Amino acid sequence: SQQQIIFSGIQPTGIPHLGNYLGALREWVRLQNESTGDRKLIFSVVDLHALTVPQEASQLRQWRREIFAVLLAIGLDPKRSTLFFQSAVPAHAELMWILSTVASMGYLSRMTQWKSKLQLPEDVSLDDTNATSKLRLGLFSYPVLQAADILVHRATHVPVGDDQKQHIEFTRYTANSFNHLFGPIFPAPEGLISPAKRVMSLKSPLRKMSKSDADPRSRILLTDSGEDIHKKIKQALTDSEPNITYDPDNRPGVSNLIEILGHFDSSGKTCTELADELRSTSMKSLKSVVATTIDAHLRDIRERYFEIIGKEAGYLEGVAEEGARQARANADITMGAVRSALGL
Ligand code: ADP
Ligand code: NA
Repeated sequence: SQQQIIFSGIQPTGIPHLGNYLGALREWVRLQNESTGDRKLIFSVVDLHALTVPQEASQLRQWRREIFAVLLAIGLDPKRSTLFFQSAVPAHAELMWILSTVASMGYLSRMTQWKSKLQLPEDVSLDDTNATSKLRLGLFSYPVLQAADILVHRATHVPVGDDQKQHIEFTRYTANSFNHLFGPIFPAPEGLISPAKRVMSLKSPLRKMSKSDADPRSRILLTDSGEDIHKKIKQALTDSEPNITYDPDNRPGVSNLIEILGHFDSSGKTCTELADELRSTSMKSLKSVVATTIDAHLRDIRERYFEIIGKEAGYLEGVAEEGARQARANADITMGAVRSALGL
């Protein structure tokens, strides 16, 4: 059977939160650690994607370093996984241009990300020039760059959250369009959708935990101290009903805390079973158990992060350059085939 090639990316937009970790990053580490050497693993800090919204250069520079340090801190190993900055491998942008000559405008206009980023209604049309006056080409064509990221490495599997399903579908469609015109260059990648690991906001538990939430107490960052974690969980919105029960519809706050416990529980218990065990504990003790559990699991990551970010100048850059070298070599093989198929 065909070799598995796994690709995924993360934007440099600040220290990841618990939702990013449980929904995406921890899955990357699992895919790496369970591999017996038969799969290729490629993970990118997709800094070109970050440019689709306004960025301040010094802030972006800092975030790029921080996220790279996070990837190492969570346990991605540059000996087993290729870790690199997207902007260090020009083939990503080059393939994007080539794919944009076959990508469907109609398909892109129906996608949701540009609308949600500009807070436009889902049914807005490109003909509505009033609504789209702030729409930049890069934000609109973002899915084409994402398709190029995946296809330039001829990835077969893409671990992503549920929200990214439509981007994988677009990638498959664009790969097929290209193959149909120029020959079978790209495999159609499959999404590896992680099974419902959605972590909700600590302050408004009907919404997912997100870095764009204005209230920083709504999320736990991977670098939060034990004290921060306890403080934020203590202030999490719950309710005043007696007894602990798992009931996401009627008790979203408490249920979110139990789900977080469940994500860290290795015994295979369901959320209902976990809640039953804690049934007669007070809300205060539940919160203390949850905070202690999160802290215990994030402590090593946090300590490694501060160790890595504090290393001598040039350390991270060296690791990233070695990753970029591998990624360039891999991408250049694809680009050779692409150029030849196109007559370039
Ligand atoms: P944010 O919503 O904070 O801006 P991103 O959109 O950058 O996060 O998401 C990066 C990755 O983390 C994606 O794969 C996404 O599915 C996952 N993710 C983001 N928020 C959550 C959450 N609250 N729970 C689970 N996974 C999440
Ligand atoms: Na998001």
